[in-house]
Amino acid sequence: MNKCSIAITGAAGNIAYSLIFRILSGSIFMPDTKIDLRLLDIPDAKKILHGVKLEIEDCAFNSLDTITVTDKPDVAFADCDYILLVGAKPRSKGMQRSDLILDNAHIFSDQGKIINKVSKKSAKIIVVGNPANTNALIVCSNTPDIPNENISSLMRLDQNRAKSILSSKVGQHVSCVTKLVVWGNHSTTQYPDISHAQINNSNNFLDTIDEQWIHDDFIPRVQKRGAEIIEHRGLSSAASAASAVYDHFNVLVNGSDDWESMGILTSNNYSITSNLFYSLPLKISKNSFDIIESIEVSEKMRTYLSATEKELIDERDTVKEFL
Ligand code: NAD
Ligand code: LMR
Repeated sequence: MNKCSIAITGAAGNIAYSLIFRILSGSIFMPDTKIDLRLLDIPDAKKILHGVKLEIEDCAFNSLDTITVTDKPDVAFADCDYILLVGAKPRSKGMQRSDLILDNAHIFSDQGKIINKVSKKSAKIIVVGNPANTNALIVCSNTPDIPNENISSLMRLDQNRAKSILSSKVGQHVSCVTKLVVWGNHSTTQYPDISHAQINNSNNFLDTIDEQWIHDDFIPRVQKRGAEIIEHRGLSSAASAASAVYDHFNVLVNGSDDWESMGILTSNNYSITSNLFYSLPLKISKNSFDIIESIEVSEKMRTYLSATEKELIDERDTVKEFL
């Protein structure tokens, strides 16, 4: 039997309520791998967290070895293999994700320091709590003993949204859409990049799509999809976010044949300022990734890449005391 320890923060919250059950019933790991699950939330959420534990037990999951519920980060993160940092305040109607920055920054700096002390140095960390890219930068700055490439921020929700909108436009199943990546920040400045996308392994579909639809419809719809969900649900996306975390986690463990988007630490790639968590196009194999470096950047595309880069630089300035 193989064992794997997974910590999930914000475990009494909305995303976790989908995510935990997706992971335990999913197929990220081989059937003989048993999960040592650590669920962390704040003391005020103790009762809800206990209820979540009872429900997990009631599922009689084959994949589960042990569950620990705790409000102590050092217990949750001890010797951990995978850490999913979901716990943070979500935005409500009328807010931008960056409005959460100073409310949430301390969570990620405190937890980063503890992860650095008690988790495995090989731990993989996925940052979900918003603003996810800048929170990932905070975690990275506070985990000097963990390799930078082990930390990524969630952009898969944006990639999934973009694929779904394009598949409806061209009338093809979403699984036919590949090489559609999202650049930059998980915010309204992100750049969903259709220019290298393929439908059934061909980019001929681009001849049937007008530029105006791309710039006036497709890109803004993906950029503003989070707000559209809040407008309708009164709450931020939870099931689709959990599904995207599952996809991101799965790709990190098992690799992917497609191009993927994740926020990773920049190092002047595509002339983007270093030391930002910026979503880039990636080829991911089991346990490692390569940045796809061959994409030609047009003048128009550079305008998009620079706008989202500038926003991330501004966010970094705002949290400089946590870095
Ligand atoms: P939620 O309010 O339902 O749950 C958040 C949970 O985090 C709560 O149970 C809260 O008690 C807990 N929490 C707060 N501080 C904590 C701490 N220090 N340690 C552990 N737990 C803590 O929110 P949600 O809908 O689950 O969303 C969580 C976060 O994910 C939000 O910041 C939201 O904006 C973000 N989000 C990101 C994406 C993305 O694509 N990156 C998508 C959706 C939501
Ligand atoms: C989303 O994209 O749905 C999440 O980041 C939640 C939000 O605040 O929009």
